[in-house]
Amino acid sequence: MKYSCGALRASDERAVVELAGWVNVRRDHGGLIFADLRDRDGITQIVFDPQRASFGEAERLRHEDVIRVRGTVRRRPAGTENAKLPTGEIEVSVDDLEVINRSAVPPFQINKDDDVDENLRMQYRYLDLRRAPLQRNITLRHKIVKAMRDFFDERGFLEIETPMLIKSTPEGARDFLVPSRLHPGSFYALPQSPQLLKQLLMIAGFGRYMQIARCMRDEDSRADRQTEFTQLDVELSFCTQEEVLEIMESCMRHVWREALDVELQPFPRLAHVQAMGTYGSDKPDLRFGLELQRVNNVFAKTDFAIFKSVIDANGAIVALRYPGGAALSRRDFDVLVEIAKQNGAKGMVWVALGADGVKSSASKFIDESAATQLRERTQSETGDAVLLFADAGTAALSAAGKMRNVVAERAGLRDPNSFAFAWITDFPLFEADEATGKPAPAHHPFTAPADDQWALLESDPLRMRAQHYDMVLNGFELGSGSIRIHKADFQRKIFAMLGLTPEQVDDRFGFFLRALDYGAPPHGGMALGIDRIVMIAAGETSIRDVIAFPKNQLMRDVMMDAPSAVPEQLVTDLSLRLVPPRT
Ligand code: AMO
Repeated sequence: MKYSCGALRASDERAVVELAGWVNVRRDHGGLIFADLRDRDGITQIVFDPQRASFGEAERLRHEDVIRVRGTVRRRPAGTENAKLPTGEIEVSVDDLEVINRSAVPPFQINKDDDVDENLRMQYRYLDLRRAPLQRNITLRHKIVKAMRDFFDERGFLEIETPMLIKSTPEGARDFLVPSRLHPGSFYALPQSPQLLKQLLMIAGFGRYMQIARCMRDEDSRADRQTEFTQLDVELSFCTQEEVLEIMESCMRHVWREALDVELQPFPRLAHVQAMGTYGSDKPDLRFGLELQRVNNVFAKTDFAIFKSVIDANGAIVALRYPGGAALSRRDFDVLVEIAKQNGAKGMVWVALGADGVKSSASKFIDESAATQLRERTQSETGDAVLLFADAGTAALSAAGKMRNVVAERAGLRDPNSFAFAWITDFPLFEADEATGKPAPAHHPFTAPADDQWALLESDPLRMRAQHYDMVLNGFELGSGSIRIHKADFQRKIFAMLGLTPEQVDDRFGFFLRALDYGAPPHGGMALGIDRIVMIAAGETSIRDVIAFPKNQLMRDVMMDAPSAVPEQLVTDLSLRLVPPRT
């Protein structure tokens, strides 16, 4: 009978079995040849006896050869069991060996977790994917996506596919464009998300939609970002924000239960201002405390010019506890100051609360009383340090918020096996654009403000609150969503506020505004990043490790060699002409 390589147990003793897979390792021992045979399901030890005809062939087996064996299950001799393997009590004594396909020598070892250059691994991704950690991650991804689909099916959602060749929808990144051969000079855009299409599905009366949706954004690749990624995309009609939060939170609870056997607690909720004020971030890592403290009053009478000028200018001095930080050397603190600067701080003052007294980079200005107050405010103990950031309010908080994560990492407070979900709510509708200072959507332009906020649209748009919410987990933004604007005239008002002329609005969004005119129901929804969810669930630090065929940091597929040049004729057929790249 055929078995997978992870199936056999002691209870199968004496069964005659057939196994097929890859040679993970071969060991020659006391006249016998042992091999570990591997497939997706696991590893089984097989044994070749010199008495059998297969022995000669077995001597020539090499790593990654593909073989099929037939033989008899037997218990391993006492003392040679392998408790780490589910199949570790047994081995298969081989009668017949069939070498199906020989393997070239792999460019890196599949059976070891060596520190292999990531680009080499990516070039041979199909071999990398044979390794146990990636097999585990891709399997976990399947389980998570299946749990999502089951959950929404159970609740009456339909999975509806939306097209990949569309007109641009703004999600804040650049579009990938696809030139049209049949319509020279015209381009499709690949979806940054199915945002407008899912809203159109609500107008079409589907009521409850979900999709495991591929999205494409032409932005730089990072550990938690790819140009091509997958969302769990959801939209509901006639819903309140509360209902969306309930459904998405229940979905995550279901996923964690099904895929990880973990029971999640109700997600805490923080208003955006509260998250920014307490953690200096709209995606705070809540696995640990380290709450930021505004300590302007500690320095109300300071002679320290930097702090004084910040206080006079209505800025903030923000304090962060560093557990155990007093043990750091001056040089260690210098490194931290550099990290703070890279994270947008103008500078950073440290105060070490050592058992042998207080030391500081601004010791002249940190007297006994200031040190005591800082200790109390940050709930520090002897042996800790306090880090101080002085700047305009939000800048100081944001720099301190980034350092909070660095400190937590160094102090070992980021337990990968703990899952701190949270909701961030009450986002502002607009943010000031960094370059122009003009209001830009904090989420996207289809987000509805809270009902009582429209009055501020002309007078003070940057103060408007939105019905926009984010789900965060362990310091990552897992997803965003909002209640949408469902009336065309309100949608036009937002576009006008964003500086679009009526012609631009008609050209880009005419189809959508027209649809809003035909009885659009109130609706809202959300999208969660599946790659990020799987990354955190798998305990990985990069989404590349949970995507079967990811791009590298330079957005290249080094296995296929994409992007790459194409024959000139193809370019001509598309009515395109290549110009030399801009330098
Ligand atoms: P947003 O742009 O916030 O919202 O995206 C939702 C979630 O998708 C994930 N994500 C990414 N994951 C990997 N690589 C990327 N480049 C990337 N970009 C985004 C994140 C993010 O939180 N249409 C709206 C949702 C809505 O309003 O319903 C949207 O796409 O986890």
